[in-house]
Amino acid sequence: MEGVIDAVTRDLLTREEGLDWTVTEFVRVVDARLPPRVFYKHCPELRQSCVVTPAGVPVHLQLLGSDPQALAANARQALALGATSLDLNFGCPAKTVNRHDGGASLLRDPRRVEQAVAAVAGAVEDTIPVTAKIRLGFADKQLGVACARAAEAGGAHHLVVHARTRNEGYRPPAHWEWIARIRAQLTIPVIANGDIWCLADYWKARSLSGCEDVMLGRAVLADPLLPYRIRHWQRTGECLPDTVWQIRADVLCRYADYQRRNLPEKVVVSLLKQWLNIMRGRDAEAARRFATLRRETRLEAFLAGLQAPCRESPQAHHEAATLAV
Ligand SMILES: Cc1cc2nc3c(=O)[nH]c(=O)nc-3n(C[C@H](O)[C@H](O)[C@H](O)COP(=O)(O)O)c2cc1C
Repeated sequence: MEGVIDAVTRDLLTREEGLDWTVTEFVRVVDARLPPRVFYKHCPELRQSCVVTPAGVPVHLQLLGSDPQALAANARQALALGATSLDLNFGCPAKTVNRHDGGASLLRDPRRVEQAVAAVAGAVEDTIPVTAKIRLGFADKQLGVACARAAEAGGAHHLVVHARTRNEGYRPPAHWEWIARIRAQLTIPVIANGDIWCLADYWKARSLSGCEDVMLGRAVLADPLLPYRIRHWQRTGECLPDTVWQIRADVLCRYADYQRRNLPEKVVVSLLKQWLNIMRGRDAEAARRFATLRRETRLEAFLAGLQAPCRESPQAHHEAATLAV
């Protein structure tokens, strides 16, 4: 996810089991083949022999572009640098990206989705999987199924569907039932995405979409233990309690510890605020901390504010200690 999921975040979020793979921020492909440094910046994991997080979870390299030739050239470059999977972004709703013919803008013409996927799949000659992520359409849902079929026809190995149109942005609700219509027309695996914030959402998204797998976006930042809780439920049928503040704070503090090695303190504070801002929508304690810390610019004070004791029960603290990531 652009601006929020870098290699440090991928590392932290995959330490606890639950996530099968992660995706980089997008490499923006315009017309030329990009130099290796661009790929390494987005995906430092390429420098290792396996493109995985320290916990061993695969990292897929994301490309965003529309020109088939440029996408193919950059797919070859990524392959040469060691990429083990390429994901194509047809979902980005940002106006600047769409104005320059990228992301969801291709959903207005399924042929262009197919051409883009086919160009990348052809460039890597089936040596690594090429996957795609779409929305239900651009302005409306009329072309959603056609775009999904186009991605499959182009050679996509699997398809992630964010259950909204581009014009719906991030506005709830996510229309998981529309993913079922897409799934019914495809033979490749379809993965449901959008507004899966908790176990109940996970069940509902699965049952309405019929998908076996889901992709989590903001929820993994809001609740870093959600993938673990889903996995635990899959294995045991047991619902673990909600993630307590202490665990969320611990993840934020570890994140700051890593980021402060390379970034100025003020930048680290704003990154922390960005993450806390996502957490606060789903957690009352995070909302309280955000309100207290929103004007803080000193890193130590910010971290102290995150770690200060809260009004949670001793039972919650016990759970935090046993589940700590
Ligand atoms: C800050 C931010 C950055 C995102 N960046 C990307 C991206 O680079 N590629 C992509 O396919 N989707 C991106 N998305 C969309 C998410 O992957 C996901 O489809 C969307 O947030 C809905 O899922 P969620 O409700 O689980 O977050 C981004 C979303 C947000 C909020």
